[in-house]
Amino acid sequence: MSETDVTNADLPADGPEPQVHGQRILLDGVTKRYPGQKAPAVDDITLEIPAGEIVMLVGPSGCGKTTTLKMINRLIEPSEGRILIGDEDVTHKDPDELRRHVGYVIQGAGLFPHLTVAKNIALVPRLLGWDKARIEARVTEMLELVNLEPDQYASRYPRELSGGQQQRVGVARALAADPPVLLMDEPFGAVDPITRQRLQDELLRLQEELRKTIVFVTHDFDEAVKLGDRIAILQVGSAIAQYDTPEAILANPANEFVEGFIGHGAALKQLTLTRVRDVDLHEAAVARVGDDPAQAVAAAEELGREHVIVLDGAGRPLRWLPLRALRRPDALTRVARDENLESVSLASTLNDALDEMLTSSHGVVVVTGRRGRYEGVVRIETVMEAMQGLQSPAHEAGRVTR
Ligand SMILES: Nc1ncnc2c1ncn2[C@@H]1O[C@H](COP(=O)(O)OP(=O)(O)O)[C@@H](O)[C@H]1O
Ligand SMILES: [Mg+2]
Repeated sequence: MSETDVTNADLPADGPEPQVHGQRILLDGVTKRYPGQKAPAVDDITLEIPAGEIVMLVGPSGCGKTTTLKMINRLIEPSEGRILIGDEDVTHKDPDELRRHVGYVIQGAGLFPHLTVAKNIALVPRLLGWDKARIEARVTEMLELVNLEPDQYASRYPRELSGGQQQRVGVARALAADPPVLLMDEPFGAVDPITRQRLQDELLRLQEELRKTIVFVTHDFDEAVKLGDRIAILQVGSAIAQYDTPEAILANPANEFVEGFIGHGAALKQLTLTRVRDVDLHEAAVARVGDDPAQAVAAAEELGREHVIVLDGAGRPLRWLPLRALRRPDALTRVARDENLESVSLASTLNDALDEMLTSSHGVVVVTGRRGRYEGVVRIETVMEAMQGLQSPAHEAGRVTR
């Protein structure tokens, strides 16, 4: 593998390399024995997590994933071994101090119900003694980062948010003090599949900007393939069955345990290795709020389309409209956002796009880029072509882009 193969970044060729803000983590012979238990929950794990990468810990329930993760921020004390973050041995560092520099996100977000969204996000900056203005600015920045309108959400309470929104706030809170390391324990386990896909896409987008070191626990192998620069497949006692890139694990499972974990349909899983940004997008007929509907109809007819995608002032897709809905001269004056609009991001996988398409009435799915702006559409034909391409020997020898 060349070095470029292990990043998620896929940056524009002319852009600068983003700075890696993460720090390397090294687990060195780490063991955890819970009192009164014969076998250790984690038995002598040694694992190096490179700076700025997302490493996924996957494995069956009870294999020691959570215990391994919680030893990194010393919510659980190791019985043996050492843990380094950067060059610092954190095994003897003050745990409270340590946790201010290690973000932690859990399933169900773990927000404090009696604190507003803003206060939840401000928690660690406050502990670090930031002044009020800096904290306020940071809360706003974090809400924007996770795609929640600050004016609308800052003063709400967690119960006034959907599960997906709570999870976003959880991520914002974990990132508020700009920690080099982010630990995530099945963070998207409690939300519906579509919300999960969006949260995954957002995490990848965030990571392009942030380049943190992220250790992410999941029992879902597809999630591991999608998000991971590397995957550690764990057996009981956190024994590492295989530690490699998703491509390498799919191509060469180390043993029967890994094969079993990958499960059936490895060919279809290859669709998870192809990103929307790797295929050619199509152009839909586009109209903007405030446009003249008659012109929008004329333009759509020229392209031979029966629907237009309407964009808001910031270029974000609002909804599909059939041409007949554009007969009234004020049809584009105000257009409500379709909350169920099927869309994927450039970081989404073709598998995600296919999922969205299957629930869509259009056979196409809208693609959004930075700040949620419209980029184009993916059509079912594109997915089918990609699948055929993936099965051809030429592809196996050549590039597998992520
Ligand atoms: N606080 C605890 N006390 C005793 N045993 C525990 C405790 N937490 C976890 N275990 C045991 O340690 C093993 C690993 O648990 P855990 O790390 O939670 O696994 P995973 O996150 O992979 O499901 C399991 O056998 C579990 O029962
Ligand atoms: Mg667990």
